[in-house]
Amino acid sequence: MVLYFSGTGNSQFAAVRLAGLIGDGEVVSINRYMKEGKQATIRSERPLVFVAPTYCWRLPKVVERWIMDTQFEGAQDAYFILTCGGNCGNAAHYAKKLCVKKGLRFCGLAPVVMPENYLALFPTPDAAECQTVMARALPEIAALAGQIQAGKQLAAPPPSLAGRLESGPANPLFYAFFVHDKGFTVSNRCVSCGKCAYRCPLGNIKITDGKPVWQGNCTHCMACIGGCPTGAIAYKTKSQGRNQYYIMDDPLCWEDGKQGR
Ligand SMILES: Cc1cc2nc3c(=O)[nH]c(=O)nc-3n(C[C@H](O)[C@H](O)[C@H](O)COP(=O)(O)O)c2cc1C
Ligand code: SF4
Ligand code: SF4
Repeated sequence: MVLYFSGTGNSQFAAVRLAGLIGDGEVVSINRYMKEGKQATIRSERPLVFVAPTYCWRLPKVVERWIMDTQFEGAQDAYFILTCGGNCGNAAHYAKKLCVKKGLRFCGLAPVVMPENYLALFPTPDAAECQTVMARALPEIAALAGQIQAGKQLAAPPPSLAGRLESGPANPLFYAFFVHDKGFTVSNRCVSCGKCAYRCPLGNIKITDGKPVWQGNCTHCMACIGGCPTGAIAYKTKSQGRNQYYIMDDPLCWEDGKQGR
């Protein structure tokens, strides 16, 4: 079973591609479970393959929490694939710790570089750069699929000292200082389509008088700002002039009957 969390679609894309390559028809959207907010029981006879973005050099906190709160029946082998804009530091160490706590068997973690989506804080690639990065990611996803099918452990490159510090002490500081929704604003380009509220995996956006209002429970996934069809959302002055990024297949993410295709 391939389970993915995704803000802007990279991890969804990687998950669907990987599932096709390993011939696993069960693709589960963690976004959907999160949004429903109910405790889940997941049963799989095949290994669990978690695909998620890298947040602050680790698995997103919301995904760690979801895994801890979910009951897994059947297979206990857990692989992790973290899509990232550059590197995932020492994320494997923390994913392994999570598995130990949860009673899952850690089968390794591997990063896949995909387009950077963090337009609230960092420069994001233009369409041509995105194409180049994606073209490099595809064979990497295929190689990981081969390793999973062969029952091999996945391996991330050994973390540098900087990587250890980033995934270690820097991670909670980053969340504390940067991961808030106070900086989001909406301009009069907003056409009240409601997509930002519909897409937020945490249900953190309410539409009031036709405009989004952020509710204080944000994981900076970038779905709202990256996917706004009119570019009406900004993050302080930081997102000004930066490319929006959103490749999520929304129906696949939310609708019944489309899982596992
Ligand atoms: C909150 C946040 C933190 C991020 N932290 C990292 C990071 O530590 N290292 C990295 O290489 N990319 C980082 N990125 C980039 C994303 O991991 C990357 O673009 C990912 O593929 C996005 O996946 P998605 O489209 O499935 O949401 C971060 C992005 C966000 C939004
Ligand atoms: S997605 Fe953009 S245009 Fe649509 S409601 Fe949200 S801010 Fe307005
Ligand atoms: S408010 Fe926007 S950035 Fe925050 S979790 Fe929701 S969609 Fe993601």
